[in-house]
Amino acid sequence: MSNQYKHRQKLVAANLKMNFDHLETTFYVQKLAWLLDDAAHDYTKVEVIVLPGFTSLRSVQTLVDADKLEIQYGSQDVSSYKKGAYTGDVSAKQLAKLGVSYSLIAHTERRNYYNEDDNLMMLKATRALEENIKPILCIGELDEEPRQSPDFEYLFKQLTPIIKRINSVGKQGVIPFLENVIIAYEPRWAVSNGKTCTPEYIQEVMTGLRKKIIEELGEEAAYRIRLVYGGSVNLNSIGNLIIQDEVDGVLVGKAALDAENFAKMIKVINKVLSS
Ligand code: PGA
Repeated sequence: MSNQYKHRQKLVAANLKMNFDHLETTFYVQKLAWLLDDAAHDYTKVEVIVLPGFTSLRSVQTLVDADKLEIQYGSQDVSSYKKGAYTGDVSAKQLAKLGVSYSLIAHTERRNYYNEDDNLMMLKATRALEENIKPILCIGELDEEPRQSPDFEYLFKQLTPIIKRINSVGKQGVIPFLENVIIAYEPRWAVSNGKTCTPEYIQEVMTGLRKKIIEELGEEAAYRIRLVYGGSVNLNSIGNLIIQDEVDGVLVGKAALDAENFAKMIKVINKVLSS
């Protein structure tokens, strides 16, 4: 594969799930920013994204704006509808007003507990993109136990609607769309239980996914999409994961809940990427 189109920025995201209230989240973001400042973190090399609960977004926006923080933030979900009588939903437009840059979509926990599927994922992604919010689209096998090898048939089935959507916007529109799409591989068996994938396994998945996108869309388009991994990533595993050629970033849940630990993980990323 040629690497001529390969200039993707790495990213690391903290998925805070349903853990902190808005005061705790504010404290967390502030502390993380201090720690990364101390470490002279270069945000242009590695994007840092925090995904708090909806109730914290306004506070995070205020803090980020006031202190001009380079940390970005996003939501853990977004409505598939634009506006109207959808009690409990939060629209992409409402999120955009809060300065949200990213939206996690169809996370394995949403698929598991709320039966979200690939169609809903694409509706939500479309809503997000309409408001210039970058969707982080979660795919991955649903097995409860670790797999020996990836189920590419299943993964390609999940990838198809994403590719179709990209195709449907036509050649002219393809590149801006692709640059704003992140695909997160999060196999259910690896999320929230300490059973992380090996770096080799993840590299195999990412290479397979990118090959499939190349087949469908060509190299230029395929090399724009960022492919990230999530599932029990911790301080010990992050270095070997992030240096994999095809791994453009990581989503961290549990290990990111402690700002100090998360900052340490980001320092490891900086170290391995600069060596
Ligand atoms: P985990 O969560 O790191 O706790 O497994 C990852 C995620 O859900 O994105």
